[in-house]
Amino acid sequence: MTIALPAGAEILPDADAVARAAAERLIAACEAVRTERIAICLSGGSTPKRLYALLAGPDHVGRVPWARVHWFFGDDRVVPWDDPRSNVRMVREAFGHGAPIPATHLHFIPSDAGAEAGAQAYARTLLDFYGADALDPARPLFDCVLLGLGEDGHTASLFPGQPALAETTALAAPVPEAGMAPLVPRITLTYPALASSALVLFLVAGPGKRDPLRRLGAGEDLPAARVASRGRIAWLIDAAAADA
Ligand code: 6PG
Repeated sequence: MTIALPAGAEILPDADAVARAAAERLIAACEAVRTERIAICLSGGSTPKRLYALLAGPDHVGRVPWARVHWFFGDDRVVPWDDPRSNVRMVREAFGHGAPIPATHLHFIPSDAGAEAGAQAYARTLLDFYGADALDPARPLFDCVLLGLGEDGHTASLFPGQPALAETTALAAPVPEAGMAPLVPRITLTYPALASSALVLFLVAGPGKRDPLRRLGAGEDLPAARVASRGRIAWLIDAAAADA
């Protein structure tokens, strides 16, 4: 029995279909950008690996405007970038050598100075790229934000009951204690940063996501439910997660 899904949800047959649909949405989002630079915010975790590999693969690599895209991170773990738990390492491995990303276009979250300093530094990175000291509702920071859904309903590193959920000004926040493994400090974008977007794409796959989806569908105030966007929010969900 298909569970009640968030508004804007599309059910796909499997995780590969979710990745293919996300690739099309992301490429379309890039094509809609009229300015020279394009800003994409990458999700961590395991679900988006397929998408990143697909974008760098032979069927899509020629359709991504790599010279214009700047890649940011929705969150990261406060570990060295070559640590197996690092989202930087995951993204580098997933894109592989097929993605012609200019070195200055990958904006990693600094993890060597700790969560507090790293969050402040990354917020500065975002505003420096944006070219102002505050976000303008009429001019989103990101053209597309990719997000996942944790089994506890978290997204990025916005975990239930944590102080970062209450941040309404800073664009990035420290998360001293992650609510789920890996239990290392994190740095996460905050709701104001995620909302400064033309499109938010949630990628959800696997039976382990049925419970958080069911809770979202029932209207529970989970961290993922609080994500807003100046533009649109879309959910790409595979049949296993949708229990379809
Ligand atoms: C992270 C992610 C996190 C992730 C969800 C889902 O750094 O872990 O930002 O929010 O998207 O936990 O993770 P999976 O895709 O691995 O299920």
